[in-house]
Amino acid sequence: MKVSLREIHKVFSDGTHALRGVSLDIFPGEVLALLGENGAGKTTLMKILSGIYRPTSGEIYVDGKRVKPKNARDALKLGIAMVHQHLSLIPGLTALENVAVLEGASLSQVSTELRRRVEKIAEELGFEIEWDRDVEELPLGMRQRVEIVKALYWGAQLLILDEPTTVLTPHEVKSLFQVIKRLKEQGWSVVYITHKIPEVMEIADRVVVLRRGLKSAEFSPPYDAKRLVEAMVGEVKTEAVEKLGKPGERPVLEVKDLWVYDGDRAVVQGVDLVVREREILAIVGVEGNGQEHLVETIVGVRKRSRGMIKIYGGYAYIPDDRQKKALVLEMSLVENAIIGKENEFAKRGLISWQRAERFTAKLIEEFGIVAPGPWSSVRQLSGGNQQKLVVGRELSRGAKLIVAHQPTRGLDVATTEYVQTLLMKTRNAGAGVLLVTSDLDEAYKLADTIAVMYRGKIVAYGPVEEMGIELVGKKMAGL
Ligand SMILES: Nc1ncnc2c1ncn2[C@@H]1O[C@H](COP(=O)(O)OP(=O)(O)O)[C@@H](O)[C@H]1O
Ligand SMILES: [Mg+2]
Repeated sequence: MKVSLREIHKVFSDGTHALRGVSLDIFPGEVLALLGENGAGKTTLMKILSGIYRPTSGEIYVDGKRVKPKNARDALKLGIAMVHQHLSLIPGLTALENVAVLEGASLSQVSTELRRRVEKIAEELGFEIEWDRDVEELPLGMRQRVEIVKALYWGAQLLILDEPTTVLTPHEVKSLFQVIKRLKEQGWSVVYITHKIPEVMEIADRVVVLRRGLKSAEFSPPYDAKRLVEAMVGEVKTEAVEKLGKPGERPVLEVKDLWVYDGDRAVVQGVDLVVREREILAIVGVEGNGQEHLVETIVGVRKRSRGMIKIYGGYAYIPDDRQKKALVLEMSLVENAIIGKENEFAKRGLISWQRAERFTAKLIEEFGIVAPGPWSSVRQLSGGNQQKLVVGRELSRGAKLIVAHQPTRGLDVATTEYVQTLLMKTRNAGAGVLLVTSDLDEAYKLADTIAVMYRGKIVAYGPVEEMGIELVGKKMAGL
């Protein structure tokens, strides 16, 4: 089956022009990577192909015939299925029932025939799936496999995977890649959406790069990583900063036998850790293993249940969700810039807004924040510029401890580099950084020390040189 998209435009009702005339072919039996930064339009384009969004203009052809899928079922009838980034199985149903039920249809009886065919598909792909358990009880990797089997069961010939590795452990990523190769051998086409270059280099037969709603380039192997990045982000200016010197001796954070409960569930279980001067300790793990509770207890947003936390020399905090936890979106840059440092700008209880404005202007300048002005509302800034404001505000506290929770999540490549560079510079200048991340590349790039968190516990801990990716991957999966 050959699929062609022609001159696709998409303008959302809020005026966002997400796609500006993208044309693309997908051939039978190929793995096509759709590469691009956050916001490039990848998901939108594939949601149009799979019937979830309507294009504003443009055409879709399957084997030369014009088609207009109106919903996901329509697209599936044409042989097109999409596995979404945030999986879309129905909680409360078993895995098998989820395969049986199609969007917009009522649940029919799960027949022995269906079970037999589903199990056969799974077996051919080498999947082990607990078909009779509620999907909510299954690990994310297994849920993803259920969705793949479901698509194939209903006759998909083109499978679209939207950033499929974000929910997987390194081990699960490996087996996903094997599955993709097997699908290809058997004649299926796969569109693989990602913003990660190494994944592209490993599995794609062809790469189409989207940038700001336009197709910016197309490549076939052998790939040149630098050119892929350039096609994604335009020119690359990276000022690589080196790690200078070894970590010091003096601790800036000590945590001993820390327990945190969420209701009656122990979500942090006896955690011990130390961050020293000039040290970046990266806590890695699949999200949801207690990292959020750990971080928020250390910075005092949550109550500890038991244990000791000592912070020496003050702390700065870059939370994982800047919009909810770090900024007040309706307020101006100036008001946001002085959150937590009102005292520095106050005289006899009154804030000097002039001084606050000067401070903000300095942040805007120093951190390259693109904003209409210091008094415009933070809501008007792009995500990257919001994060620069948070990082700038926090690093300007001059604290000895920086707690950075997913500091680059959702940022474009250039801003990611920039934030990582700032963290490294802060470390080199003598601060300690507690970096909590689910991005292993980031951890290996920055960390002096790596700790793996799994189900509330630190299950491995050591200098980065001794913490190989194999070991870390295993520990992340609880092996
Ligand atoms: N439902 C929507 N309404 C308005 N804007 C949207 C919607 N979905 C996506 N966008 C915008 O369209 C652009 C492309 O988004 P998306 O296709 O999700 O990018 P990608 O998948 O490449 O990260 C972004 O600017 C995004 O904010
Ligand atoms: Mg997307």
